[in-house]
Order: sequence, then C-alpha cells, then structure tokens
Amino acid sequence: MRDYEPYYTEDGSIGLYSFAEKDVFHSKYGALTEAWEKFILPSNISNIINTKESINILDVCYGIGYNTKALMSFVIDNNKNKILKKNIFQKLLVNINNIVSICNNNQKKNKRSLSLCNDTICDDNFLSFFNIDCLEINEELIKLSPLFKTIKTPGEIYSQIVPDIFNCFDTYYKIKNIFENLLSIFYPKNKKDIRDLLDLKFKNMHIEKEYKINNLVNYIILNRLYENFGKEYFSDNIKKIIKERYTSRFFSKSMIKYAKFNHFWGYNSSSEWNLSTFLHNIYYSLLSKRDKNIDFKAAERLFNMSFYVNDARKTILKLNKSYDCIFLDAFAYTKAPQLWSVEFISKLAELLQPAGLLLTYSNSAQVRNTLIEAGLHVGKIYNEKSNKFIGTVAAKDKSLIEFPLNNYEYGLCTTKAGIPYHDPNLAFSNKEILELREYEYRHSNLMSSSKYMKLRSMRSENDEEV
Ligand SMILES: C[S@@+](CC[C@H](N)C(=O)[O-])C[C@H]1O[C@@H](n2cnc3c(N)ncnc32)[C@H](O)[C@@H]1O
Repeated sequence: MRDYEPYYTEDGSIGLYSFAEKDVFHSKYGALTEAWEKFILPSNISNIINTKESINILDVCYGIGYNTKALMSFVIDNNKNKILKKNIFQKLLVNINNIVSICNNNQKKNKRSLSLCNDTICDDNFLSFFNIDCLEINEELIKLSPLFKTIKTPGEIYSQIVPDIFNCFDTYYKIKNIFENLLSIFYPKNKKDIRDLLDLKFKNMHIEKEYKINNLVNYIILNRLYENFGKEYFSDNIKKIIKERYTSRFFSKSMIKYAKFNHFWGYNSSSEWNLSTFLHNIYYSLLSKRDKNIDFKAAERLFNMSFYVNDARKTILKLNKSYDCIFLDAFAYTKAPQLWSVEFISKLAELLQPAGLLLTYSNSAQVRNTLIEAGLHVGKIYNEKSNKFIGTVAAKDKSLIEFPLNNYEYGLCTTKAGIPYHDPNLAFSNKEILELREYEYRHSNLMSSSKYMKLRSMRSENDEEV
C-alpha cells in the first residue's frame, strides 16, 4: 500500500508526507523553494555551465525529483537563446555555418553544438551536456515524478475551490478549519498525524511564484523514463494511483495524457510523430509564449538521465563517473542513518570531482563532522533572503567554500553531538547503525554539546566584561 500522502506546501508546490518515517519528504515551507535555495543556487552550476563539454550530476534520493527538475529548469532557461526554433532562412544560415565549421575542421568542442545547431539557432557555439544520475529506492515515486502538477500559488489553489460567495479567503479558511477540526475527531490515526504536522495556514495569499519549473522539464523526464522502463513505465499500479480519489487532484491531466499516448504508441517508434503532432496539441497549448519558441528536441538533447532504483548504498558502488555536483537529500539523519554514515559519505566523496561540490540541507554538527571525517572541507549555505545559513556544502578544494564553519561550529563538531554513524560494509540495518552510535556515545570521553555551549557562552560573557 502507498505509504505517503501528497499535500500542497506553502509555496504551492506539492510535497509528500511519509507515514512510515513520520516525516515530510519536503520542507512544508516549499518543496520547490527548498530545491532552488538549498541545492541549485548554492551549487557551482552557474559557474561551470557551458564551460565544459559534459557536466555530471548525482541526485541522491531523487524522490519526486525537485532537485533534478530545478536543475533542468535552470539549464533550459540559461540556454533559451541557444535552443530557439528556427525559420527557413535561419536554417539555411545554420547549414552554411556548419559547412564552414566543418571545413575549418573545428573539432571536438564544436561537435556537440553542431549537432544541436542542426535543428536550432546557436548564438554562441557551445552548450554543456548534462548527465544526471538519479538514485532512489522507491520506483513508484520516480515514475510518478513527471506526472505531478507543477507549482501553484495558494491563491491559485484556493481560487479553484473557494465558492464565489466566500470570495474572501480568510472567511473561507476559518469556516473550513472549524469544519475540519470537528471532522478530525473521526479521522483515522494516520490522517490525524498528517493534519497536525502540516497545518498549512497559507498565511500569505499573495506569495510570489518566485521559483518555477520550466514546462518542458516534465515532458523530458517522462521521455527519459520511457527510455528507461519501456512499456513497464505505465504499470497498472501507476494507473491506479493517479486515479485515487484523494491523490488525483495532484496530478497533471496533460502529463497523464502524454504518458498514455506514449504507452499506446510506444515512445521510441512514435517519438518523431508524436513530437510534431500530438505534443503540439498537448503541451504547446500549455507553454508560455517564451517557451513556445524553444525547440523541444534541442532542449531534450541537453540531458542524459539514468534512474537507479535501489538502495543508494548499493548503487554508489557501481557508479564509475566523477561528479561536478552531488545533491544529498535523504530523510533526516535520525530517520535514515544509512545514508549519513562515514562510510557512505566517504564513497560520495570519492565520486566528487576535485572542483565538485556536495550539497545537503542538513545543518547538524553530526552531519558536518561526518563530511569532515570523509576528508572534505565543509561550509555553510547562506540564504540572503532570510539572512540565515540553511544547509551545508562540502568540497575537496577548500577555496570553493564561500562560508567556512567558524571556530564555534568546528568545536561543536568535536563534541559528543558530532559522533558520526558507522556502517562498516554499507549493509547494516537502521537499527544496527543507531545502536552502534548509541554505544559509542555512551562510552565516549568527549564533551557534551550542552556543556560546550555553556562554556562558550560563559567565555564570551567574560570576554565582554574584559
Ligand atoms: C527527503 S526525500 C527526498 C526528496 C526528493 N529530493 C524530492 O525532490 O522529492 C528522501 C527520499 O529518499 C528515498 N530513500 C530512502 N532510503 C533510501 C535508500 N536507502 N536509497 C535510496 N533512496 C532512499 C525515499 O524514498 C525518499 O524519496
């Protein structure tokens, strides 16, 4: 049985709640906001895009793919002027350019851009190609990922369901809340959990859609999933889930139509035809004017995606690329210790390029110390909007760390709070990993974090007195 439940997070993107983990998959303040602010914006992608032929990305815990989708959106939006549809004169010009480039024997660097230029206009000759490896244990989530609706603001969600008579959101919300509280007495236990945890107030009805996913992204992911799973993609289970009464509202009708179309005609045999005819009706009707000018196939060719459905601990042993950027988005370290152990993170560190970055949302001393033990330099992810540090970044090259840990934060990592998890053969159960740390913690001579904090605050008071 499905053990997760979708809901709208506060930026209008869809988040999931896991009954098994009693935890959210995404920040309730905004699944998409989190992807942009903790993974894409602080990454090195804006510095390296279109400077090297291929860029390798590892998305550990793909889930329903926000981090990958935000990345793809960033790439498409940054290359918009290079992947435009061309008219007949521009086609001619491109062909002449191609012949000239071939004559000049302008090799390697131009080769890929030439193949893109066959169908597109290229202002600049060079485009990076993205290899994205997505690691996820739950196949169902991967398959559903492109079918979820893209972002909606609370205003848009409620404008669909608020009757005209209650045109005022506050009145509607108050009345709805009274009814829901009364009804919640009869809710089954698990529904109560999710309501308590996700009491979405939508306090700000006028949230700006600050972050978006380009509409082409879900179509590209769906095609890649068809290449990966073939006819198995649109299984009976997936069909059943998207029809369920509560969940169906979270899925995009046009994406489902497209998935059904691919399923019926077969993505590979019909791709040329469906792109030019069917897609025209389905997705071009939904695209913004600016996106309509983008050549879908050229955008699609920017991405090579592989989906690995397995325990990430097993998958990483088989990967042989080295990555420019690694997103580590596992459940909290207390819930999923197997993906926060020194051994697992050391493997990730091995897969990181010398100029690569590993990013995670966690700020904990334990996670930071684990990254240090794995041989990485560690720093913080700074968010200008909130003026807060909202995550952790790690690198092999110290100079890539913009906001290093300060002395206090380093000190905290050396207290008992920083004792990391161990998973010697990457095969322990959660329980075994937690018990091993508990044993180490009990027998450790290190200072407790509370004592450390007390001493530090006393010291700073003394300093002030002096
Ligand atoms: C916090 S969620 C990640 C959310 C995701 N980045 C997204 O955008 O939807 C954690 C994910 O880790 C997956 N997961 C849990 N244990 C795993 C394991 N051992 N290997 C790979 N994935 C795992 C869960 O199925 C879940 O989708």
